Amino acid sequence: MFPLLAQEKIKISHLPYLQALTDSSVSIIWTSNNPAIAWVEIAPNDSTHFYKQEREKLFAQQYGFKMVGTVHQVNISGLKPGTTYRYRVYNQEVLKHEGTRVQYGDFAATNVYREQPLKFKTPGPSAEVSFAVVNDIHGKNEVLRNLIKQVDIPKTDFVVFNGDMVDNLLSENQMYGGFMDTAIALFASEKPMYYARGNHETRGSFATAYPKYFPTSSGELYYLFNYGEACILVLDCGEDKPDSDIEYSGIVDMDAYRSQQAKWLEKAVESPLFKNAKYKIVICHMPPFGGWHGSQDIRDKFVPILNKAGAQIMLSGHLHRHIIQKQDQQVHFPVLVNSNVNLIKVQLNDQEGSFKVYSQEGKLVDEIKIKPLN
Ligand SMILES: [Fe+2]
Repeated sequence: MFPLLAQEKIKISHLPYLQALTDSSVSIIWTSNNPAIAWVEIAPNDSTHFYKQEREKLFAQQYGFKMVGTVHQVNISGLKPGTTYRYRVYNQEVLKHEGTRVQYGDFAATNVYREQPLKFKTPGPSAEVSFAVVNDIHGKNEVLRNLIKQVDIPKTDFVVFNGDMVDNLLSENQMYGGFMDTAIALFASEKPMYYARGNHETRGSFATAYPKYFPTSSGELYYLFNYGEACILVLDCGEDKPDSDIEYSGIVDMDAYRSQQAKWLEKAVESPLFKNAKYKIVICHMPPFGGWHGSQDIRDKFVPILNKAGAQIMLSGHLHRHIIQKQDQQVHFPVLVNSNVNLIKVQLNDQEGSFKVYSQEGKLVDEIKIKPLN
C-alpha cells in the first residue's frame, strides 16, 4: 500500500462521478494515483465565490476512521430536495502510518478557481422527469459518445446504464477505459448515473470490485429510487447461462442470488416509494424472455411479483436488437428491449410517459407510451 520508491506527485486520476442520488443523499466517487484521505467540500449554489469562506468538509470515513486508499467514496446525507449544490473533491496523500504516527504529503483537488465548481441537483417534487438509457456498449466508447451526445444533458435528470458496458471487468484501468472515463467527460460529474449490472459485469477477476465503484442507496446491486412522481426499480439480472456452465469456472451462484433478490423485491414493491408512484418503471438488463436459463429465472422469480405490483414497463437490453414486446398472459407489462446501438429517451409528465428510441444518427426508431397511474 505504501511503496518505498519515490513516486509521482499525488493527483486525481479519475474525476468524480455521482452515485445513489436521492432527494436527501448522494455518494461521490473518484480515484487518486496515490493513497490518500479524501473529502468533499460542499457549498450552496448561491452567488458567492467558492473561496468566500471555508466550506463544509465531508470525509470519506467508516467506523470513525478517515479512509486511506485510492478509490474514494464520500456519502453525503441531509440534503434538501430539488436543490443544487456546488462541490469540490479533495485528497491529502498519506505517505506512511507507523505506530500511532501518520505522515501526510501533498494535496490534490478539483479546480474551483479558474473553472466553475462541479454541481449536482437533488430530485424534487416535479411532475416532469426526463432520463436516457444506454446498454450493451461493450467498451465501444465511440458508440457511447454518439448516443450520449444526442442527450440534452442540462435538461435531463439522469442517465441509466442498463448493463454490459464492458465485455468483462479485469482492472480499474480497463473499467475506466471501457466506458467510465467517457461517461465522466460527458456528464457523470454533474448528472447522476444509475447502473443496472449486466451479465458481462459479473465476469472477470475485477468483477467483485464493482460495488465499490457503483454503490446504491440499498447497499445491494438491486434498488429503487424516486424521481418526481416516478419510481424506478433497478434489478440485477445475474448471468444468462446455468451457474454450472463452463464459462463461469464454477464461481457464480446466480440462481440463489436471484431468489434472494426476489425476496427483497416482494418487500420493495410494498414500500410507499413504489406503491404511491405514478410511474412504475423496471430496469433489468436481461428481458424475461429469450429462452436462456437466466431470462427464464427472471420470468419465474421476478415477473409474478412485478405483475402483481402493477409494474408498467420494463426496459432491458442484452439481445443486441430492438424489440418491443407487448404485454401478454405471462408478462403483464410491455418490455422495451433496447439494442446495443440505440438510446432510449424517456419523458414523463402528468399526462403521459413517452419512451422514444433513437439511433446513433439521431433517427427516431420507435416509441412506446404509457399513462400515469392515479
Ligand atoms: Fe447481456
